[in-house]
Amino acid sequence: MSKQVTSDKAITVYAPASMGNVGVGFDLLGAALAPIDGSLLGDRVMIEAADAGVHYSQTGPWAHKLPEDGKQNIVYQCAVFFVEKLNAKQGVAICLEKNLPVGSGLGSSASSVVAALYALNEHFEQPFDEQALLLLMGEFEGKISGSVHFDNVAPCYLGGMQLMLNTPNKVCASIPTFKQWYWVVAYPGISLSTAKMRDLLPPQYDKAVAIDFGRHLSAFVHASYQQDPKLAISVLKDVMAEPYRADAIPGYSHARAELETLGMLTTGISGSGPTLFSVTDNLETAEAAKAWLEQHYLSQAGGFAHVCQLDEQGTRRV
Ligand code: HSE
Repeated sequence: MSKQVTSDKAITVYAPASMGNVGVGFDLLGAALAPIDGSLLGDRVMIEAADAGVHYSQTGPWAHKLPEDGKQNIVYQCAVFFVEKLNAKQGVAICLEKNLPVGSGLGSSASSVVAALYALNEHFEQPFDEQALLLLMGEFEGKISGSVHFDNVAPCYLGGMQLMLNTPNKVCASIPTFKQWYWVVAYPGISLSTAKMRDLLPPQYDKAVAIDFGRHLSAFVHASYQQDPKLAISVLKDVMAEPYRADAIPGYSHARAELETLGMLTTGISGSGPTLFSVTDNLETAEAAKAWLEQHYLSQAGGFAHVCQLDEQGTRRV
């Protein structure tokens, strides 16, 4: 189980953190993140050929939060799936470098799954095409989060801002982004389970809420194509999840109000939280928001804040 990946023939893949929902598109919109200081905000997976079977190891700052039994890890399970599906004679040594906190709202499980499946697909000379691989990513990520939704795996894999289509022939489509925006993200250090945060949501919504949701999301997509940032910000509102999740995230509502005072254009929950995102087109304002969040929103060891832009590349070999 624990053969380390060491040779210079190893493939290394990086998969960026992502924000599910992006406030306005519950389960239907997601964006990949790149800190502007160039720091790493995503998991890496290293893979190389080995004796028969799957030899899994894990490392990195958040590896201690993963199950100790490697066989329970999703990356191990992705590798077993590949080896069995391809009936591979030779095995693989695969190592997960866990750089993202679990249960953070930054697409941590998606990052591990996407990096692993991308690396396996490269190692085995691409038996799966882009759509097939994406479907597989959604399926494996769903095993961890409790339900299949692509708003983390799609942007993590393909980069930029992705709109879910969920049609038989196409899972998602890339939409234009606002290159002048800074996305300040802050992870307070606590962990929240996506499944539990989904349980807070009502089973059904009022007709007026459904109409507002459709209007906001379609206006945001329209504004993105028109490159109209004012319109985009004015409709970047969450009527589906934030009203039911805000109170379950310590300090979120207070931070949201303070960030507005600091001049941030809008603030929302990244995925199912507790990470929040806040948008501005001014770098100085972004740095001030980051400093405020570091001082007031981070509550546990391991918390962090970053000024980001969107990662337009998505998952890649590094
Ligand atoms: N869109 C899902 C949710 C997952 O908000 O529950 C986000 O990571």
